[in-house]
Amino acid sequence: MLSCLTLVFVAMATSRVAGMISEAKFGVVPTISSPGATAKGPPPSESFPYEDQLSDDYTLYWKFNNTHITFEMVVRTNGWVGFGISPSGAMKSSDVIIGWVKDGQTHFADRHAEGHFLPAKDSSQDWTLLMGQESGEYTVLKVSRPLETCDDSDRPILPGTTRVIFAQSPNDPPSDDAVSYHGSTRGTKSLLLLDPPTSDKQKISLPSDVKTLEFTNRNVSVPSADTTYWCTTWKLPDLGGKHHMIRYEPIIQTGHETLLHHVILYFCDGSLNEATDPAAFHCDRNPLKHSSHCTHVFIAWAIGGKAFNYPSHVGHSLGSAGDPGYFLMETHYDNPRMRSDYVDDSGLRLYLTKELRQHDGGVLMAGVQVSGYQIIPPYEKSFLSQGICDTACISESLGDTEMRVFANVLHAHLLGVKLRTRHFRNGVELPPIQEDNNYDFNYQEARMLESERVIKKGDKLLVECEYDSSQRTQVTHGGLSSREEMCLSFLIYYPRSKLSRCVSRILYEIPDQFAGRSVYDIVHHLDWTDPRSHEGFNHSVAVSPHAQLCHGSHTSFQANLQTISLPKVNNPYQKPQMCHN
Ligand SMILES: *[C@@H]1O[C@H](CO)[C@@H](O)[C@H](O)[C@H]1NC(C)=O
Ligand SMILES: *[C@@H]1O[C@H](CO)[C@@H](O)[C@H](O)[C@H]1NC(C)=O
Ligand SMILES: *[C@@H]1O[C@H](CO)[C@@H](O)[C@H](O)[C@H]1NC(C)=O
Repeated sequence: MLSCLTLVFVAMATSRVAGMISEAKFGVVPTISSPGATAKGPPPSESFPYEDQLSDDYTLYWKFNNTHITFEMVVRTNGWVGFGISPSGAMKSSDVIIGWVKDGQTHFADRHAEGHFLPAKDSSQDWTLLMGQESGEYTVLKVSRPLETCDDSDRPILPGTTRVIFAQSPNDPPSDDAVSYHGSTRGTKSLLLLDPPTSDKQKISLPSDVKTLEFTNRNVSVPSADTTYWCTTWKLPDLGGKHHMIRYEPIIQTGHETLLHHVILYFCDGSLNEATDPAAFHCDRNPLKHSSHCTHVFIAWAIGGKAFNYPSHVGHSLGSAGDPGYFLMETHYDNPRMRSDYVDDSGLRLYLTKELRQHDGGVLMAGVQVSGYQIIPPYEKSFLSQGICDTACISESLGDTEMRVFANVLHAHLLGVKLRTRHFRNGVELPPIQEDNNYDFNYQEARMLESERVIKKGDKLLVECEYDSSQRTQVTHGGLSSREEMCLSFLIYYPRSKLSRCVSRILYEIPDQFAGRSVYDIVHHLDWTDPRSHEGFNHSVAVSPHAQLCHGSHTSFQANLQTISLPKVNNPYQKPQMCHN
């Protein structure tokens, strides 16, 4: 655990790739395929706003309103079709439906699974069959259900990640009680059912003058190491005036879908030195003198994410005076099998237009400062880390302007299970800006909020991450690698303000019996199989203040290391109660 003491951008001159800063390249606007272009099988019975190809043989279409969700499954089989909502991606505790068409008649039931045997029929049948038919090689089932059925055998469908499970079998079961999982094809996938990516919504029409700008890694020989953070520096070409970025998307080299874990494009305050600053280097051996100025997030993309389209009244300004001219792109390669044969050209494609929109957008990074001071003990089922963005930082940077947040990216690593961005005003907790109770490390997507959220002077934010470290035997620290942790929330908002980063870290209070020792030393020598270690550490976390790190772009704003404490929550937000038992 050498890296546990490494802070993110430690300047340390070492190996680098020779050459000067690259200029982002104009590219050709690709044809953006409209949804449906890839779907196989007969067309669905109506036009659905959302669809996903769950496997080569299984297409899921869906739509929803405030109370209900409707699915249509088009599956290449003449046997039975299964679909379900699962807590983890496995069968256990899943809400399952199974249906098939035999002799023109559709058999269908709402079931629940306790394990890998036939899911039992629910006593309350909450899914409604709307249609069932066989069409050539395909079986089509159309079903709807309330988002919340209030049946303990079902699972509510909530905003955030939903793990769906799906299956099909070539055979019809001999009877309703003899559905055999034997011989079936099964799978699981994470979907955002109620807040699908903006790129999934209808075909977008781009202004006719749109041009693309590409930031791509060039022939990076990815080290045969578990984790590599590769940095490249960029200069924006002359755009000839102000533009708005209205869309971005990942450029993922074929075969590198799991290698490319995240790509963050930071912008720099002022300029880099084109003659002396390197074009590419290991981020953790950062030779950039100015690196501390290249820390404002412009785009945060992570694995599983698709394209992001800005709402029609917002664009991210580039090309005018005061806009960023230099960038640092950080690519996180996740190479757990330590392959040495990856040569990578992946990156980001930005779509720019001169048809300016009403507002300039910005990104605020909130959460827990990425450092070894984030400590997660082992053997915990749901350990909580918290990062504060306090009133002083928000008030000082925003003044009387308001920040209107329209999208959010929540980010943690392998142990993350539940993530949320909480919001407080005048001692009252507002509904969370975003919440994901089924976080999936392999599916991270910028999610549009249902409606814009105003953050203003006097507000506080609290980013919370719950981690499951029950399978670990050692302390996990915050850090860059996937095996270390993060707890970050990227808020995408308008109008652009100077506030770009508002994170905190715990200033651990050291109990008397450990006086004179560092928190690292202490946590690495505790016996974590002893519940008293957990109680003692929990106590220290609960009573220790935090240091606030509050950064603005253009160096005009910095209010570092104020000591703050967790918001006092007298009125925690209560979710509206849907079910009355
Ligand atoms: C929502 O969808 C369900 C199922 O399709 C339908 O029965 C219901 O009337 C819809 N509600 C509204 C408000 O449109
Ligand atoms: C990458 O490597 C290939 C094959 O060696 C070469 O043809 C290509 O020019 C290289 N690209 C860049 C940008 O260096
Ligand atoms: C320590 O705190 C976590 C939440 O962060 C909780 O889940 C766990 O039960 C606590 N452990 C003890 C022993 O108090």
